[in-house]
Amino acid sequence: MSCSVVIGAQWGDEGKAKMIDFFSQKADIIVRYQGGANAGHTVVANGQKHIFHLIPSGILHPGKICVLGNGVVLDPIQLVSEMDNLISQSIDISYRLLISDAAHLILPYHKALDGALEELRSNKIGTTGRGIGPCYADKCLRTGIRVGDIFLDSKTLEKKVRQTLEVKNLQLVKMHKKDPFSIEEIMEIILAFKKRIQKMIINTGYYLNEEAKKNKTIILEGAQGFGLDIDHGTYPFVTSSNPTIGGALLGSGLNHSVIDKVIGISKAYITRVGEGPFPTEDFGDDGNLLRDKGGEYGSTTGRPRRCGWFDVELMKQTARICGLTDITLTKIDVLSGFEKIKVAVGYEYKGKKIDMFPSYLLDDIKPVYEELDGWTEDISKCKTYDELPQNTRDYIAFLEKAVGVPMSIISVGPDRENTIVRDTWKKTKL
Ligand code: IMP
Repeated sequence: MSCSVVIGAQWGDEGKAKMIDFFSQKADIIVRYQGGANAGHTVVANGQKHIFHLIPSGILHPGKICVLGNGVVLDPIQLVSEMDNLISQSIDISYRLLISDAAHLILPYHKALDGALEELRSNKIGTTGRGIGPCYADKCLRTGIRVGDIFLDSKTLEKKVRQTLEVKNLQLVKMHKKDPFSIEEIMEIILAFKKRIQKMIINTGYYLNEEAKKNKTIILEGAQGFGLDIDHGTYPFVTSSNPTIGGALLGSGLNHSVIDKVIGISKAYITRVGEGPFPTEDFGDDGNLLRDKGGEYGSTTGRPRRCGWFDVELMKQTARICGLTDITLTKIDVLSGFEKIKVAVGYEYKGKKIDMFPSYLLDDIKPVYEELDGWTEDISKCKTYDELPQNTRDYIAFLEKAVGVPMSIISVGPDRENTIVRDTWKKTKL
């Protein structure tokens, strides 16, 4: 049995999509377990760039099954547009995309409320505006519309949507002075969606556990990252779901006993998009250089990403909470040319050392840095670990020792081919 969970180990955008695409070569089923179209997953395969927001990037591999789990919040318009995009590139998706009947639908009023709430906040979160928070809020309020609801008879479905819509329109019009939505426009979206996807809907929790029993190789794909987790991240500057290990189980329905690997994906430096604490952010020339060299602009919103240095305590906390068995270190090629590379090995608060990533005071702590020697070589063509320059290997060894988790795969460029697999990984099924 082999089921691996792939988790963003920082604040999202760690290069998960490239790695999911890479791991998918040996997988049977790839499952997205949380989040929605707030994610922007970029994959370069055979020189062609693909951006996914909802569909797992494993879809690029013929014959693989992709699942949108119950933990996902699904924008029907976005999903159909992604499906059409794949079909227009002659990528056959028939019988390969399965959708949980328990996933919640993001409807236009969720997106309108996301924008309106953000406008109202004095302390902005910098959401992606994709309706994520309002949709998860409806799920908790038990007023959400789920994918499986499309099978209700049309009168019952319309009554259910109308009940929710009345409250949303009150909020939009009275509180936010925005335009209301008509029941007709919402029903049109839902019914058009039904026509396109009704054959793909199943009970994914049942399906996945049965497939696991048949020894299928399954990958659970997280969106966003540890620092954006609503429970463990830098609240309130977080997303509304759990990208961490608990979210993988809840959002897929797979039981814990089938999980054998938990892989954290981490950049060799750090980025963050949107507001919120970021202790190792670099506001100077190095931060700008990381952004330019790394092409650090959000693939969903196009916003420039904030850039900074690897944070050992953040990674140790991710490893602790998620039980990471391996780390994949990505974008280390971006560091070529830096004379010195900084790594935060701990923090100080009011002159005292703190040896953990705190839940509070993140704006007030100061990172304690060590500086390592950089390298000048272009490493993107390296195929084996031994081909990497000594200083690159020293940097990886330093991080690995400090975090205490093997860095089994090193990504040195955006293409599938730019991936170094170390000997420790070669024995695994993926
Ligand atoms: P929301 O998920 O749109 O509600 O946004 C909440 C916070 O999470 C904001 O700071 C976003 O910038 C951030 N965020 C959401 N999705 C992603 C992602 O896929 N990558 C990086 N940051 C994200």
